[in-house]
Amino acid sequence: LFSPVEMAPRDPILGLNEAFNADPREEKVNLGVGVYYDENGKVPLLRAVQAAEEARVAEHAPRTYLPMEGLAPYDLAVQKLLLGADSALLSSGRLITAQSLGGTGALKLGADFLYRLSGKRLVAISDPSWENHRSLFEAAGYEVVTYPYYDPATHGLNLQGMLQGIEQLPEGSVVLLHACCHNPTGVDLGVDEWKQVIEVVRKRNHVPFLDIAYQGFGDNLEEDALAVRLFAEAGLPCLIASSFSKSFSLYGERVGALTLITETPEEGERVLSQLKRVIRTNYSNPPTHGAKVVAAVLNNAELYAIWEQELAEMRVRVKQMRQALVEKLQAAGVQQDVSFIQQQRGMFSFSGLTREQVARLAEESAIYAVGSGRICVAALNDNNIDVVANAMAKVLLE
Ligand code: LMR
Repeated sequence: LFSPVEMAPRDPILGLNEAFNADPREEKVNLGVGVYYDENGKVPLLRAVQAAEEARVAEHAPRTYLPMEGLAPYDLAVQKLLLGADSALLSSGRLITAQSLGGTGALKLGADFLYRLSGKRLVAISDPSWENHRSLFEAAGYEVVTYPYYDPATHGLNLQGMLQGIEQLPEGSVVLLHACCHNPTGVDLGVDEWKQVIEVVRKRNHVPFLDIAYQGFGDNLEEDALAVRLFAEAGLPCLIASSFSKSFSLYGERVGALTLITETPEEGERVLSQLKRVIRTNYSNPPTHGAKVVAAVLNNAELYAIWEQELAEMRVRVKQMRQALVEKLQAAGVQQDVSFIQQQRGMFSFSGLTREQVARLAEESAIYAVGSGRICVAALNDNNIDVVANAMAKVLLE
């Protein structure tokens, strides 16, 4: 049975953890996976999370099944965060949210839903995109194509290419868009640019599928939801995959959500009924702990304020590391303009390092980055940034 099974390649992101863990060198640095580490190189347990967990432990609550679509106060809190607490959609019956196993789980639910219920077979992702987008949609049965996004010459957005690419897709295609803190490039759209994208999506009857895994790591919670709110305002049906892995530092709890904006409350009911079947036939119902913790924080003004502050601290620290990296690369003799590292948003920098340079960083300096050149700036701190900047300068200069 298993003898014909061939060895699979390592996952381009999570596989780096395996390589990193196996590296015996002491001064190793993992700039691969998108995880925020604090100034001491530790994944933080947020104070707001700790308080919510303590209250939860004290409750000694029984562990029954959650509803297939997850915890209701959690789903509602997700909607408020995405659409804004005063959005008319919240009470419209048109918004459907299901708790999911992280952002990845939300993407898979949405992919399965559109495949089974809407007959979708083609999805377009940005070039480049999160490494797992292609694999996930292909595994769900889709043909995956790309639309232009990043312009390596300017380290910015190729807006005209993006608009044309989306326009040229077959009518009714699924278009995957990063709502903020684009992964891997850190290049985002502004209001006018989003409006142009929305017009093309509308004109071509495409299905917008927004991925928002880094809300709060760009400017703040409200501004980072810009794209979601513009799509909602435009009145287009839409899917939104969101995640609290990063913003709550709850990676292993798998807390995400899939939200769908439907056109009428009656349509919403039908969509929810089918989404529940997709969930039931995948994993039955979601786990309790992470959603309980997140709901406790989001639905309590005091804990919310603490969380927002902690999120701001993470965001500010990443920005400081961006600036420090630019300064240290220049101090190490790098001549080319690296100021774009400071403009990029979110946890990552699309550094411009080639695959060969990334391989050299691992071999020569035990510094692990994604083969595309993506480095996780959120893993830098005062103790490792000199080693990283010098090693990067070395491979850039030689
Ligand atoms: C990343 O891009 O590194 C994160 O989203 C983690 C993952 O699952 O790949």
